[in-house]
Amino acid sequence: MGEKRKGNPEYLAYGLNHIAMIMDGNGRWAKRRGLPRLAGHKQGVETVRSVVEECGDIGIPFLTLYSFSTENWQRPVNEVQGLMDLFLESIDRFGPELHKKRVRVRFIGRREGLPESLIRQMGGLEQLTEKNTDLTLNLALNYGGRDELIRSFLRFLNDASRPANGLNEAVFRTYLDTGHQPDPDMLIRTAGEKRLSNFLLWQVAYSELWFTDTLWPDFTVEHLHDALNDFVSRKRKFGGLG
Ligand code: IPE
Ligand code: IPE
Ligand code: MG
Repeated sequence: MGEKRKGNPEYLAYGLNHIAMIMDGNGRWAKRRGLPRLAGHKQGVETVRSVVEECGDIGIPFLTLYSFSTENWQRPVNEVQGLMDLFLESIDRFGPELHKKRVRVRFIGRREGLPESLIRQMGGLEQLTEKNTDLTLNLALNYGGRDELIRSFLRFLNDASRPANGLNEAVFRTYLDTGHQPDPDMLIRTAGEKRLSNFLLWQVAYSELWFTDTLWPDFTVEHLHDALNDFVSRKRKFGGLG
């Protein structure tokens, strides 16, 4: 794995610039082993690590990972607290490694409501990695698609230098959390559910969807390549005739 595929344009030639992932199934993975749910989240971080590394090696320009939704606050307080601690710990542990791999990390979602210490760490990692030019990794944390749309519209309204001739799709998309990034070409969801769960509602308008029953902690780079190989066989038409 790794070096051999570095910068391999195989998938990129098919227009695969951005992959989005709904990392689901951590709780079920733990439950099946008689472990607390948090053990599944911890194992899930290991999957994140290998997926980020592989996407970097392949040369995928953008990867967006759904880490915590605006609805996940409804979970028991000990799980939410455990997740916040895990995010903090993971930034500490893997931040330098991501920087070394020239990954540019961005957090999308609502900062407000997250613990102050975590907000500081997030900002620190963004600053540390902002000039990196390999993979851009968007971590969706306290993210909801509807919340993003409202925040984006408010940003537009509050922007004194917004284009005078009004709002259109090309202008509006630049106010989204994903800014000037291309839309995801493929959306992967693990653990069998076939729904969006409020993820990237605007951006996935024409994404190719790929689902697997595999739980996120069991998801490997082989599964990722299954998804990518499926992607290259798809015929995208964008409403035209393809
Ligand atoms: C996804 O795994 C991680 C988060 C939502 C934070 P889940 O925790 O939703 O796992 P399941 O769906 O309960 O198995
Ligand atoms: C979506 O998973 C959110 C993340 C993966 C962070 P959920 O497990 O929260 O989604 P639902 O509740 O099954 O729709
Ligand atoms: Mg779930």
